[in-house]
Amino acid sequence: MSNWNSIISDEISAAQQYLECGEVVGIPTETVYGLAANALNKEAIVKIFEAKNRPYFDPLIVHIGDGNQLPLYAKNISDKAQHLAAKFWPGPLTLVLERQSNIPDLITSGLDTVGLRMPNHPIALKLLAALNFPLAAPSANPFGYISPTTSQHVMDQLNGKIPLVLDGGPCTIGVESTILRCVNNEVTLLRLGALALEQIEAEVGQIRIEKSNNSNPMAPGMLASHYAPKKPLVVGNIESLLETHSHQKIAVLSFHKTYPATFSRRLSASQNLNEAAQNLFAMLRELDKSDADVILTENLPEIGLGRAINDRLKRAAFKIL
Ligand code: TXA
Ligand code: MG
Repeated sequence: MSNWNSIISDEISAAQQYLECGEVVGIPTETVYGLAANALNKEAIVKIFEAKNRPYFDPLIVHIGDGNQLPLYAKNISDKAQHLAAKFWPGPLTLVLERQSNIPDLITSGLDTVGLRMPNHPIALKLLAALNFPLAAPSANPFGYISPTTSQHVMDQLNGKIPLVLDGGPCTIGVESTILRCVNNEVTLLRLGALALEQIEAEVGQIRIEKSNNSNPMAPGMLASHYAPKKPLVVGNIESLLETHSHQKIAVLSFHKTYPATFSRRLSASQNLNEAAQNLFAMLRELDKSDADVILTENLPEIGLGRAINDRLKRAAFKIL
C-alpha cells in the first residue's frame, strides 16, 4: 500500500498529472469531496477501493465533464433520462443507466448499469476538461464514515494514502447527489440527495422510491448504517433526549432552536435547509471529535433538502446490534 507525503493543492495541473499516471486524488465537487481516479483504468480504480477500505460490492459513480459524453458510457438512454440530464446537469444528480462495455466491471460491481454524473463545480469541470478520460469518484471518506465537505476533512482521514487533495473550498451543497435509476423508461429513486424530490417530480411526474434493504442494497449508500460518526447518535425530541441522557456528556446538533449544552451546534439559525445541508457533515465531524459520550439530534421538516438530511441522520443513528 502506498505511503504518500500527502498535500493539499489548488493546482489543477498537479491533480491532472497524478490522474494521468493512474493515481488517486481528492477532488472538490458541489456536493462532497470525491476520491477520483481514471474510470477506464482498472489498476487506478483498485487504488480507490484500497484507500477507502471500500468493499468491492459497492459500485462507483463515473463523473463526466460534458453531458454530451453520456452515450459514450451509457446506452438505451430513455427520453426521461435525457430530459433529466439536460435539465439538471451540471448538478447534484446521478443517473444509473445501462452501461456501455468500455466501463470496467470494477466500477459497476458487475452490474449491467453505471452511475453517471456531471458535477457542478468550476474546478472539477476544469479538471475533467483537461483529461481525456472520465473520473470514477466515490465520496472521499473511509467506507461508512461521514462524507468530507472540505479538503482538510479529506486530509484528516486519507493523509498518507493519496498524493494530493485538490482544494476547491468548502462544498456549496454539502450532501451527496440524488441517485435515480432510469432503465426501461422507469425512474426509480435509489438515494435521496441534494436534488430535491419535488424538483425531479416536477419534470417527470411521480417516481418509484426504492426501499433500502440491507441484504440486497440497490445502492449501498442505502445500507441502513452509513454516514456514521464514531459516537452513538440519537434522533428524536431533543428536550426529552436531554432528560433520558442526563447522566452522560452530551453533544447537541439542532435545527429548530439553540441548546445550551457544552457541545452544541445549530445547523441553521434561520432554519434554512440549504444552510443546514452545508453545515451537516462538518458539524457532525466536530461533535464526533468532542469528548461527549453521545450526539443528540432531531429531524428537520420532510421537504426539499430536509428529506436528504433526515435520511443521513437516520443512517448515522442506525447501529447493527
Ligand atoms: O455527490 C455524490 O454523489 C458524491 C460526489 C463525489 O460525486 N459521490 C458519492 O459517491 O456520494 P459514493 O460512492 O459515496 O456513493 C455512490 C452511490 C453508492 O452507494 C453506489 O452504490 C451507488 O452510488 N451506485 C453507483 N453505481 C450504481 C449502480 N450501477 N447501481 C446502483 N447504485 C449505484
Ligand atoms: Mg459515500
